[in-house]
Amino acid sequence: MKAVIAYASTHHGNTKKVVEAIAKECDVELVDVTQVREKNLSDYDLIGFASGIYAAQFHQQVKNFAQVNLPQGKKIFYIMTSAMDKDFSKSMEASISGKNAEVVGKFSCHGYNTFGPFKLVGGTSKGHPDETDLKNAVEFFKGLQ
Ligand SMILES: Cc1cc2nc3c(=O)[nH]c(=O)nc-3n(C[C@H](O)[C@H](O)[C@H](O)COP(=O)(O)O)c2cc1C
Repeated sequence: MKAVIAYASTHHGNTKKVVEAIAKECDVELVDVTQVREKNLSDYDLIGFASGIYAAQFHQQVKNFAQVNLPQGKKIFYIMTSAMDKDFSKSMEASISGKNAEVVGKFSCHGYNTFGPFKLVGGTSKGHPDETDLKNAVEFFKGLQ
């Protein structure tokens, strides 16, 4: 199974840590969508979109990348890191609409956050993603295949 994860991780590299932990143990290609805007994904069986969450949204470049590059009828999954560790994948819906994508999994964990006033108190979710988060992410990915 050929897999790719398109990610953006611009705050503290939290999401990058997660996808790199997966790529270290599993056969998956990583694409940093803040660098790469277009890619032919037709050969991939499994396509992941990974992002830190900013104002309850996936990163705009992840949304753009999905809208521009996601072919019809693919299996997709989401990975997100956020202060609240909630499911924010609804923010991707408009970008995948009309693509007949099948969402086969979602993974979320806490990510260190120093946005705005949180910086004054030393940030929230300090130390995350931690080793357990990374282990859980690898298990999540293995479970998709
Ligand atoms: C501008 C900004 C907005 C954020 N908004 C939210 C939010 O709405 N909900 C949330 O749970 N976390 C929010 N966070 C925290 C990030 O989602 C969290 O730190 C995430 O792990 C960052 O991922 P990254 O380091 O891969 O960019 C926000 C962070 C920033 C910088």
